[in-house]
Order: sequence, then structure tokens, then C-alpha cells
Amino acid sequence: MKTEVLRINPLDMDGKAIARAASIFQRGGLVAFPTETVYGLGADADNEAAVGQIFAAKGRPNDNPLIVHVADIALCETYVEHIGPEAARLMEKFWGGPLTIIMKRSKRAKDCVTARLSTVALRLPSHPVAHALLKEAKTGIAAPSANISGKPSPTIAEHVLADFDGKIDCIIDSGATQYGLESTVIDLSVVPPRILRPGAVSLDMIREILPDAAYGGLAGAPRSPGMKYKHYAPKAPVIVVSGDMTEEAKRHKGRVCIIDYDEAYREPADLFLPCGKDDADYGARLFYLLRLADEHGADVILARNPKGGAPITDALKNRLYKSAGGAVV
Ligand code: TXA
Ligand code: MG
Repeated sequence: MKTEVLRINPLDMDGKAIARAASIFQRGGLVAFPTETVYGLGADADNEAAVGQIFAAKGRPNDNPLIVHVADIALCETYVEHIGPEAARLMEKFWGGPLTIIMKRSKRAKDCVTARLSTVALRLPSHPVAHALLKEAKTGIAAPSANISGKPSPTIAEHVLADFDGKIDCIIDSGATQYGLESTVIDLSVVPPRILRPGAVSLDMIREILPDAAYGGLAGAPRSPGMKYKHYAPKAPVIVVSGDMTEEAKRHKGRVCIIDYDEAYREPADLFLPCGKDDADYGARLFYLLRLADEHGADVILARNPKGGAPITDALKNRLYKSAGGAVV
């Protein structure tokens, strides 16, 4: 299969290209598209065969449910039992934006999307290209991050192509995504509400609306099935460094990649990748840099422990620690 690349400038949107991508959904194809978090790999959420193609292309375990992306709340309503007052307040405050809400599902939400759970995850993105595409598609679009299962999520179209060139119908290239880490996932089907995955919408921001919201699922049981799998891992091992970076670099043989805020660590590195000035920058770059380190043949990646102090810090730490498999020195 030849993968068609459609370049769409978010500041000057080409209606014909959007219509073309939407028509691919209508005939059961897969389209990768930008969102404000990461690129997604989409299919018509009501088309079982098309959704099956997403799992096949990603090599994704089929007990890991997908997020249904919608253009408006009226469409969201058709996938859930009902939108309660808590959900309505979250939507009003954070949609469109990087927040996914889990609610009791309706019959429209198919088993292949929900992995047979009694709930379904919904998200209304803010990215103008995603929004226009969803509006034109006139249906919910099931879309996980557009990476092979286990790899870092893609934040540029080139990284989607690296995983899926020749394997999907189309990719929309609109440049780099804004946040660089996947959406916050909150489960409103339980009391109190639980944040299953941290993202750019922080716990504190959510607590302004739902004061009893907290992190985590039930002890022992990962409530968000995706969180139990290996994640965000480049080929080279990742070590999170909170101590002396130069000393740590000396401990490793081969091509040592250093990711740090401080340019002074160019010196001990074979490959130095700056993570920016703060955690918002670091979050936006993390997945990009992990893939870049692989492209440059890094043998080990030493990544600076995040500074803290940004709404996205918890999400950044969550993804970085997972990519390191818990290796922190
Ligand atoms: O920012 C994002 O959310 C991106 C963009 C493309 O929208 N999408 C994304 O999808 O990150 P994915 O499939 O990579 O991650 C979805 C997460 C998984 O951990 C999955 O297990 C969880 O959401 N999830 C989906 N439906 C669920 C449900 N009904 N109950 C619990 N967890 C659910
Ligand atoms: Mg993912």
C-alpha cells in the first residue's frame, strides 16, 4: 500500500485535503492525524473491520481499549449512557483540549473499541486540523497514538511514517504537536473520579472543578489496561539522572546520549540533546528526543530528572520513568 502524505497548514487549512482524508475514514481506511498532544492513528469507531486494522497495524493487544475522538458534545452523547454534571463541567472547562473522559458506554460504543469494558473513553481535541477532520468525518474516530505498540508516541509526521509508511492509507502532516505527551485520562465511572494517566491537564486543574479527584486505579488492578504494557521505549536503554551527569556519563561505554536543560553537558556527551528551559519544553520534546537518540545510534540515553513546577511535570515524569523502566540514579 502507498501511504499518501497530505500536508495541511493549521493556519491556512485546505478544505479539499480535509475532505479527502475524511473520505478515507468513510471507506474504512486508516488516517494518521495531528492533535495538540501527539499524532493519532484513526479509523471510523463504528466500523469493526477498520478498528481491527488499527490493532493489527500497531501490534496492539486487543484488551487495550481505544479513545473515541469527537467534533462536538452532541456526538459524544451518542457513545455514552449519559453525560452527568461532573463530565459536563470538565467538558466546559477543558474541551477541546488534552483531556480524555471515561464514562459508561452506550450501545453505539463497540466492543472492539472498548475492549468489552462497560465504559468508553471520549476526547474532543483542540488542534484545528484534528477538529476540522472530525467535523468532516461526521462520526466518532477511534484513535490511539500513531506508533507501533511500545515505542514512543509520535510528535511529528516523520515519526509516524517511520512506523507506518506503506501500512496505512494516509497521514496528515501539520508539523510538530504542541504538548508532546498524550492526554490526561480521567475515569468518571467510579467515585471518587480517578486520573488513570497524567497529562497536560493536571490534577490541580481538575481539582478546581472536582475537589475529590485523585490519581490511580484500584490497588493491584490496572484500570487503564494500556498502562500495564511496556511503553515509550526507544532501542537504547534510558537512565533517569538526578545526580552528577558527568560522573554518570563516565560509567558508560559506547555512544552516550545526554538529555539535559544545561548545555554544559555537551562536553561529556557523544550526543547532546537539549530538553529546553522548563518541563513544558521537555514534555513537548521528550518522545521526539528519544526517537532522535535512536536515529543517531545512541547506546545509552541519560535523561535529566525533570525540574518540576509545570502543569505537565507529573505527565513528563510518568512517561520518562516508564521509558526508563524505573532506572533512576
Ligand atoms: O492524547 C491522546 O490521548 C492520544 C491522541 C491521539 O488523542 N491518544 C492516545 O491513545 O494516547 P492511546 O490508545 O495511546 O492511549 C489511550 C489510553 C490507554 O492507556 C487505554 O488503556 C486507556 O486510554 N483507555 C481507553 N479506554 C479506556 C476505558 N474505557 N477504560 C480505561 N482506560 C481506557
Ligand atoms: Mg499510546
